[in-house]
Amino acid sequence: MTDFPTRLLWWQRGVVYQIYPRSFMDANGDGIGDLRGVLQKIDYLAETLGIDAIWLSPFFTSPMADFGYDVADYCDVDPIFGTLADFDALLAAAHARGVKVLIDFVPNHSSDQHAWFKESRSARDNPKRNWYVWADPKPDGSPPNNWLSLFGGSAWEFDAHTGQYYLHSFLKEQPDLNWRNPEVKAAMFDAMRFWLRRGVDGFRVDVAHFLMKDPEMRDNPLSESGMALYKPMGDYDSQVHLYDKGHPDNHALYREFRAVLDEFEPISPRMAVGEIHIADWDEWATYYGANNDELHMPFNFALINTPWRAEIVREVVENVERVLTNGQQPNYVFSNHDEHRIASRIGAEAARACMLLLLTLRGTPTMYYGDEIGMVDGDIPPELAQDPWGKNVQGLGLGRDPERTPMQWDSTPNSGFSPEGVRTWLPVTADYPTRNVAAQLADPHSMLNLTRALLKLRRESPALHGGAYRTLSGDAHTYVFERTAGDQRFVVAINFTAEAQTVALSGGGTLILSTALDRADEAVGGTFSLRPYEGVIIRA
Ligand code: NOJ
Repeated sequence: MTDFPTRLLWWQRGVVYQIYPRSFMDANGDGIGDLRGVLQKIDYLAETLGIDAIWLSPFFTSPMADFGYDVADYCDVDPIFGTLADFDALLAAAHARGVKVLIDFVPNHSSDQHAWFKESRSARDNPKRNWYVWADPKPDGSPPNNWLSLFGGSAWEFDAHTGQYYLHSFLKEQPDLNWRNPEVKAAMFDAMRFWLRRGVDGFRVDVAHFLMKDPEMRDNPLSESGMALYKPMGDYDSQVHLYDKGHPDNHALYREFRAVLDEFEPISPRMAVGEIHIADWDEWATYYGANNDELHMPFNFALINTPWRAEIVREVVENVERVLTNGQQPNYVFSNHDEHRIASRIGAEAARACMLLLLTLRGTPTMYYGDEIGMVDGDIPPELAQDPWGKNVQGLGLGRDPERTPMQWDSTPNSGFSPEGVRTWLPVTADYPTRNVAAQLADPHSMLNLTRALLKLRRESPALHGGAYRTLSGDAHTYVFERTAGDQRFVVAINFTAEAQTVALSGGGTLILSTALDRADEAVGGTFSLRPYEGVIIRA
């Protein structure tokens, strides 16, 4: 059982909503979402839905080889998305409504079109040569070591002009920056300050544990099991990624990184959450820092790739509670722009229970645009595929287009995302005439109204947004836990199965919210029968 903290900062109390800017709202009618589009929907976010913070995936200058995760200028907005003035207008509108703004920070690699890389590859004696990771070929001309790109193939690209290889942990258009070079560190920290001075409330840090690599660049050992890190990734799974990421030197780096954020803390609280896929709980937790002086949180992705099974979900939560005992803030993520949609993974009914779980657990929830209406994966014909990962590594379902389709706002052609007749960058998913924000607002039992009710209850209830957690019971079918703060106590009970299940409740209470949204204010006590896939909140 955890203690109830008395004073909570926005990111400890609030709910984060991830926006993939290409796909949220297209204000200029070119078929691609933009910052003005997000601005148009700010009241939807702040009032209709009621989230506390948005995280914007990259909108920086980019040739879009990886749709913005290849940054060519860390301090400007790509014309596809708008201008710096548009960003400032969005930030001001968000702040005027009490909504915080996190932006993506992509430190591991830039675009190969970044001025730094163009200089770096121009000559071996260029002053920016060591801003990236260059190495000589082996005597037979092959790459310096066996490291692999997560997006397929070798992580090394030969540069004929200068006769060396450069490292790219992702696409060859995404050369890895050399964070062991103090000039790189200084330049990247200045890029952070550029946005912090503009008023952003923090960063989501892309592949945060990749920054520091083995300085000796040793070969990775081959994996005996060929076990996937968190989902099967083809050849990448043939190695234990011992030397190409997750180096212990990351920790000293994140202490410096944190100090940059802390420079701005006297103005207003800032936050950084790192994208860190590490399966070992104790190692994962080290990224908070031994003195809570590194990342404010490493994202907890454990529930993205686990099956929707009561005992597995409970085990994840109990692991989080076990390792975070020193005031570190837990957090939960069920979906993002890299993973298939929840409703497609576990089904529409379970997706409702999943939303109830996400918004009642202890810690910061991050939700993904469209989850609030239960959006499903789009069916993208091969000729319309966009994602480079899906194109490079075929046959494993790694393409990320299905979860990036346009937000479904209404039943008009192009779902209110782009004007009628415009060709959207990815097709709008076929179910938009019935699954959309306008239709769900009018339906009292919709997923959207469930999400709104949960957000409202969480915001109003100290026990839910900041209280202690305790498991009450669990088996292969159900999971029951309590959240408490002072004399406020809620019991959350979830049925993970397609059959009705009975749970025992210690003491009575009032059912205040069911995922079906068709009952409330029911007195309950003793044993309680949950309908298939139902989740309920009981005020004790
Ligand atoms: C992780 C991001 O979430 C993903 O979308 C991107 O392709 C890679 N990092 C490379 O930046």
